Amino acid sequence: MKRGRTAVIVGAQWGDEGKGKVVDVLTRTFEVVARYAGGHNAGHTVIINGKKFILQLVPGGILRPECTSVIGNGVVLDPLAFLKEVASLRAGGVKVDGNLFISNRAQVILPYHRMMELGSENAPGGVKIGTTSRGIGPSYEDKMGRRGLRVADLLDEKLLRTHIENACREKNLIGHALFNVDPLDADKMFREYAGAAREVAPFVRDTALLLNQALAEGKSIVFEGAQGTMLDIDHGTYPFVTSSSATSGGASTGTGIPPTSIDTVIGITKAYCTRVGGGPFPTELTDAQGEDIRKRGNEFGAVTGRPRRTGWLDLPLLRYAGMINGISWLVVTKLDVLDHLTEIPVCVEYKVDDQATGEVPAQACGYEKIECIYHKMPGWTTPTSNVRTLEALPKAAREYLAFIEKETGARVGMISTGPDREQTILVPEFVRALELSH
Ligand code: IMP
Repeated sequence: MKRGRTAVIVGAQWGDEGKGKVVDVLTRTFEVVARYAGGHNAGHTVIINGKKFILQLVPGGILRPECTSVIGNGVVLDPLAFLKEVASLRAGGVKVDGNLFISNRAQVILPYHRMMELGSENAPGGVKIGTTSRGIGPSYEDKMGRRGLRVADLLDEKLLRTHIENACREKNLIGHALFNVDPLDADKMFREYAGAAREVAPFVRDTALLLNQALAEGKSIVFEGAQGTMLDIDHGTYPFVTSSSATSGGASTGTGIPPTSIDTVIGITKAYCTRVGGGPFPTELTDAQGEDIRKRGNEFGAVTGRPRRTGWLDLPLLRYAGMINGISWLVVTKLDVLDHLTEIPVCVEYKVDDQATGEVPAQACGYEKIECIYHKMPGWTTPTSNVRTLEALPKAAREYLAFIEKETGARVGMISTGPDREQTILVPEFVRALELSH
């Protein structure tokens, strides 16, 4: 039997590009969706028939009952956040039993991870990353330090008790010494997490095995990235990044699917740029124009509600994202947010000391030397939110998309012009290449 087809969906910017909606479109024909990185720092908002769903840990495939959803080993799982999300999905009439699985190798976030994160983010003199305060970074620290608790261990009550007792002793000491925080009660924590473990248990599987078996049976898999390329722990604007491999390489290590089984990488980009939290942002707009985009694009964090920083499209970064991830198809989202503009500047090149450079700085301070060279594209000043085909888009909008294609070497396969499932333009070649028609 022929192996199933696969596609990775990756954020080409700093997250919040609208990956959830793309997952939703792909799951028309893809049978399995697997999340491979991050935790409940992510937040996909999906609107179906006017009903809003915010997904943080659970993959977007959950909104199609025939689809299998997997939380891979690369994810850090907060069991309480997971159970809360599952409860709200159940309350919304969404099926979660028998179609949602968690890797037994995923790492567990515990309360001391949040304690350590808050302590270090608020410590005087430290670098403030502006994290989502979910304990993501400290949990990945424990994973790499080989002292983390994995989901399989969470289900092992004896081991859970010993782990929590030892970890609390250590974290309370460090927390007190470094940040003067109040100690956490190990006993209380054990009781709460042992209870959560019993509810989580039915979802737990060896998902690497499940996914590889699905592929061997000819089933298709979408790998759902969280955050974006510039927040990747290795390739992003370090240290202003998240603590996981958000780029397409993470799809393999974060699920247990070999790299040789990945067929296509789809990069998602907004028609402009946003970022939440601190760190470099070359095309940032700090004036009324930036405020206008924030308002029109409703650019406020889905998880923390923080206003997002906004700026023009950055093609050098998009080319970089293309190179790191191997992007062959681009999805351009929120095109409608630019509908009112008569002119749209796009950054086409970086210059350092008057010299054009194709390199993206390795150091955060390197971005201060960058001069962005802009090309002004004509706006289309026509509403696009009801447009359903590429041909029906205003000429200037088509030219904007064609310019992105020319400058990145990737094809634009899909355009989103509004939050609803219907506000989507699918390019026929993309539908054919990804076998999206039933
Ligand atoms: P952490 O992932 O909570 O450790 O936060 C690290 C950085 O990544 C911060 O700048 C966050 O704002 C950012 N971040 C984390 N998750 C997301 C996301 O889903 N969208 C956008 N930014 C995110």
